[in-house]
Parts: sequence; C-alpha cells; structure tokens
Amino acid sequence: MINYSVDNDGIATISWDMPDRSMNVLNNGSIPAFKEAVEKTIADDNVKGVIITSAKPDFIAGADLEMLQGWNGAEEMFENGMELQMLFRSMEKGGKPFVAAINGTALGGGFEICLACHRRIAADNPKAKIGLPEVKVGLLPGGGGTQRLPRLIGIQPALPLLLEGKHLSPEKALKAGAVEEVVPADQLLARAKEWLMNAKPEDAVQPWDKKGFRIPGGAPMTPKGMMTFTAGNAMLHEKTQGNYPAATNIMSCVYNGCCVDIDSGLKIETRYFVKTCMSPEAKNMIRSLFFGIGNANKLASRPKDIPTQKFTKVGVLGAGMMGAGIAYVTAMAGIQVVLIDQDQTAAERGKSYSENLLKKAIQRKRMTEDKAEKILSLITPTTDYSLLDGAELVVEAVFENREIKADVTAKSEAVIADNAIFASNTSTLPITGLSEASKRPANFIGLHFFSPVDKMPLVEIICGKDTSQETLARSMDYVKAIRKTPIVVNDSRGFYTSRVFGTYVNEGIALLAEGVNPALIDNAGKKAGMPVGPLALADEVALDLIYKIRNQTKKDLGDKYVPNPADAVVDKMVEELGRVGKREGKGFYEYPADGKKHLWSGLAEQFPQLPEEDQPSVEEVIKRLIYIQSVETARCMEENVVTTAEDADVGSILGWGFAPFRGGAISQIHTVGVDNFVSECDRMAQAYGARFTPPKMLRDMAAKGENFYAA
Ligand code: NAI
Repeated sequence: MINYSVDNDGIATISWDMPDRSMNVLNNGSIPAFKEAVEKTIADDNVKGVIITSAKPDFIAGADLEMLQGWNGAEEMFENGMELQMLFRSMEKGGKPFVAAINGTALGGGFEICLACHRRIAADNPKAKIGLPEVKVGLLPGGGGTQRLPRLIGIQPALPLLLEGKHLSPEKALKAGAVEEVVPADQLLARAKEWLMNAKPEDAVQPWDKKGFRIPGGAPMTPKGMMTFTAGNAMLHEKTQGNYPAATNIMSCVYNGCCVDIDSGLKIETRYFVKTCMSPEAKNMIRSLFFGIGNANKLASRPKDIPTQKFTKVGVLGAGMMGAGIAYVTAMAGIQVVLIDQDQTAAERGKSYSENLLKKAIQRKRMTEDKAEKILSLITPTTDYSLLDGAELVVEAVFENREIKADVTAKSEAVIADNAIFASNTSTLPITGLSEASKRPANFIGLHFFSPVDKMPLVEIICGKDTSQETLARSMDYVKAIRKTPIVVNDSRGFYTSRVFGTYVNEGIALLAEGVNPALIDNAGKKAGMPVGPLALADEVALDLIYKIRNQTKKDLGDKYVPNPADAVVDKMVEELGRVGKREGKGFYEYPADGKKHLWSGLAEQFPQLPEEDQPSVEEVIKRLIYIQSVETARCMEENVVTTAEDADVGSILGWGFAPFRGGAISQIHTVGVDNFVSECDRMAQAYGARFTPPKMLRDMAAKGENFYAA
C-alpha cells in the first residue's frame, strides 16, 4: 500500500502504491498506513528528509468518497477530519524537511498532502492535473486546502482555484505558485533528494509557522483583503444564487481561517467541512455527479456477455451542425469518419468545422499541429455512399424528415455489413417508426447528441421496439470511445430529455399566461438553479420550433393530445405577433444589436399581469418550475422510458442542465421525500392543472414508505 525505504544518505521515501487500484486514494486503509510511515520518518534519527511520491503513473487522486459516505454523523466526521489535519500538521512540525515529488495527477486530498510538504516539485507530465476540485461534488477541501493554499499563493489567486475547483497543469501550477519547481519526469526523484540534501533547518518550517508571517497580498482585514471579499461574495452569489453551500462555506473558511493562526484555521475548516458534508446538496452532488456519471461512463448498465466492439470506421450522414460535430468527436477518438452530404461543398463545410476547432486548440496550445493534421486526415468528406463499406456504425444527422431519413437508411444499408449498426440522431421522430425503413431493425438505434456536440457530454441512447441488446451494447461502446456519457432510454415522444425539458419551458410560459410577471418567472428559473430562465430558453430554442413540434404532436396524437396552457401563448407569439425568438431578434425578449437582451416591453399588454398583491411568491414559482420536471420524470420511469433513477438524474443534469445541487430530477423527489412530493403535487394539481398529478408509481412508493436511493 505504502512503500517505505531509507537510503544511505538518510533520505526516506514514502511511495504510495495501493494494490488493485489504478489510482491512489485516501481511504480507511491508506490513511493509517501513510500515518505510520510519516511517524516512522519523524521518529528515526537516521532520517534527514522525506520524499513523498507515488509508484503509479499518477500521484494521489483525492479522498475516497465512499469512505466519506461511510462516516456516521457529524461527531465521527469531525474526529476523523481533525485526525487527518493533525497528521498533515505532524509533517509540517516534525523538524524534518518533506518534499512532494508530484509525478502525476494530484487532486483534492492528494494535493493537500503536497501543500503540507515544505516543497512541491512536479514532473513535467502534461497529463497531470493539480488542484482542489472538491467543490465540483458539493464538498470543500477538508485536509487544510482552504488554509494552506491562500497562505501559499495569496487569497485572491487561491479563491478561484477553491471555488471553481479548476485543475492546473504542472506548468500552470508553477506559474500560480502552487508548486515551486517543474522538472523532467526522469529527474524528479533525484531533484527531490538534492533539495533535501541541501535543505537548511529553516526549510523544514512552513512559512506560516515562521514568526512575523504575512499572507501574500494581504489578510482579510486589510483594505485589499476587504475588497477581495466584497467583490468575491457578490460574484459568488451571482453565480450560485446561494444554492451551493460548499462554495459559501469555502469563502467562510478562507475569510475566518485567514484571520487567525493556522491551527485555529484548520479547526474552522474541519467544522465547515462537516457542515458541508452533511448538507443535502453535497449528498445529491456526490450521488449524481460522482457516482452516477462515473457509473454511466463505466457503462454499468451495458448488457453483459457481449464482446466489446472496437470502432475503426464510422459513417456520418449529413454534415450540418450536428453531423459536423459528430464527425469531430469521432475523429478525436482516432476513428476514421466518412462524412456524407448532398453535395461535396456541404460535406467539405462539415469537415471545416473540425478544422476550425483544431485550429483554436493549437492556438491555445492544447494540440500540436502534427496531431491535428492526423485527426483531420481521418475525416473524408464525400457524397459517395460506397465509401461506407467497412463502417461498423453509421450515424445519420440529415434533415428532420422521415422520407429523407428513410432514403439515407436504405442507401447506407446497401453498402454496410449486415452486422453494422445504423443510428439516427433524430430529436423528435420515434425510433421504432424510423426503423421501419431498415432491413434490419434489430441493428437500428437512436443516438441523440446535444448541441454543440463537442462540448455537451451526454448521449441519449434510444432503443426502438426491435433494437437488439447487442446493438445497444455496441452502441454504448461507441459512446464510451468518443468519451461521452450515455444514458439508455426507451422509445417515446421526445424520448426522455426533450420530453422533460419541454415541461420546464411550458411551465414558464403557462405562468406568463396566468399573469405572472415575466421577470419573476425567469429570475425564479435561475434561482431554482437552472442555467437559463424558461422564457429566455424558449427564445433560444425558437418559438416557431416549439410551435412546429407541438403541432406535429397534436396531429400524431389526435384526441390523446393533452393541451397545455402554454399553447395559446405560443400560438399568439408566432401567428399574431411574429415574435419567434432570439434567431430573429424578437421573442419574449428584445435583442438589440448593440446591447444586452431585455424583456419585451409589449409583453404586459399582450399577456395582462396580475396586480402586484396577487403575484405568487418566488418560492412558489421555483417549486412549480422544478416539480413539473420531476413529476414528468417520474412518469417517464413509470412508463419505462427511462429505467433507472441514476440515468434519469444524470440525463437531467447533463442533458438540459437541471440544477446540479438538487442531484437531478429524481434526486429532487428523493431529497424532499416521496410522500411530501406527492402531497405537494396534489396541491399543485388542484391549483394549476392536472399536469402536476403524481403518477401511480409515486403514490405506491409513498404508501410503502419507499424512496429512490439508499442514502
Ligand atoms: P442541419 O440542417 O444543420 O444539417 C442537416 C444536414 O443534412 C445538411 O447539411 C443537409 O445538407 C444534410 N442533408 C439533408 N438531406 C440529406 C441527404 N439526403 N443526404 C445527405 N445529407 C443530407 O441540421 P442539424 O441541426 O444538424 O440536425 C440534423 C439532425 O439532428 C436532425 O434530425 C435534428 O432533428 C437532429 N438534432 C438536432 C439538434 C440540434 O440542436 N440542432 C440536437 C439533436 C438532434
């Protein structure tokens, strides 16, 4: 677990190497073993200095979140937290110099060990990530990170690293002052030893333990410090709307902890750490952002016993916005792409999308010219279907039109092997219907990407009635190969993500129809934790598209279509007022060419508003906007459209930006409790309409006292 050796010069090396794990982590096994090694170095008079490193390609990935989940209650958490702080403190105060030889990624608790060393030397490993990403899963660094980093590099530069959880490359960490040296990887240990051999007694004392220490750039109570916190708090609130206790608590740790000595600061940090860990927000984020996404990326729900498919050649039909993006992410994974469009110019234009992205990556030094050239050479733009020969998969992203999709399906199947997969990126057309154009519907599947494809991490995989388990398994292999996160759903109108996303937009518009102030509606959306308010979002999607899809749905469903109060507003905006959204510069908002968008002043006249005293509270509007999504998601689960709570949660956060601190649309129900959710939905169904009526599945769960997750 932890290798320990002392050489003839009295230099001890503590090298992390946890068995059966690709990465070292801090857990119930490794922490005591590390402690024992640290104690040994301090007790051994022969030891002059200590190197901490790792025998694996990476240094230490952080604390094991499963360990945190296993801690029982605040008291145990505080005790364990303080024990870790004391261990790191013993390294700092043992009288011997410690150096961190950071060979690879050092994150969270891993980097906190480095911060407790007297010097940090990193290898010039371009893949290494250095930082404190705890905030991304709703936590704060509880191993001294909020105290040592500001004392090392200054409060102002430390805050963004702590509050955004950014990773730094070794080069950037050096610039930021988070490490003191970067050396070639093969010289790392020799350089660490050299530093120790030359270390003077004062080198074995941390700056913050020396008399007269001052925080670089000033403490919180200096004029500069005051300015940092005043501006910082305002910016933080603007960004988080007060929804993320981890971020607020990190601010408090830095502020309070940097006003006092380090030992008191560490105690303050541990108190906030416990408070943060116990918050529902942290539980939600760990569950969905860490375990949920992690399991999806590991293809936890992939059908078993089907050999993994390796992809060497993929066809992409339609080189428009989506096809061009799909070609790019596929080529980035080292897979050959045949990019087909109606004419050569359109196909070439699709390829130039990749060219532009790669150019930008080169400018930002994220890519070498050589590598970019190789990636580009993988994409063949053409109109010739015969080039699809040998493709294991074809993804179509042509116009959203059944006939055109049927035509390209037939043309592809005439060339590709019998066992090749044909996937549609349709956003609205049911997969089972489209598969009727296929000679082998078992190999037909939906791969629903999100725009822009290169940035959006989710792919919604849709199984049609006839899609085989083998096709599903192999499609999941493709999604993994292009480094996206898959969720698996069954065929339904709007599938899962578009269906539930639509309820958020519609509820916002329904509120407008009732006379609720539009500014209140969109502010409540943002305060609820959604990235954009529902009216602004409707403008972005385009009201004429919402209108078109709604009309198609109405036509397809006939009597079964359930009207929504939003319908009349959309009709009026599109048919009467010609305000179709952002694209045309006018929708619910105005988009002046030379200024910031603002709500259209004519809205109040077209959709009369309730008097001030009858306006609902912001809390009620937030509840409506959030609960409508959760209740629709529960319906999707009842109808087997989405089959696991985990996929529903991951899909809601990654697909349409459902408030991450709520853990996803199902975690929201879990957090408030199913019975509570059901009774609130019943109340809202009475007040606002049957769309809030909870599905039977939820009533049954409430009656049995069940919930979605164990914790
Ligand atoms: P687009 O209009 O940008 O691109 C479509 C491309 O298909 C055009 O380049 C067109 O020339 C080409 N095309 C049309 N007929 C063809 C044929 N017979 N053979 C070869 N190429 C042909 O459209 P976009 O936005 O890329 O959408 C494509 C598909 O992806 C649609 O089914 C759409 O519903 C779906 N989708 C779109 C999303 C979006 O945000 N735009 C999101 C997810 C899915």
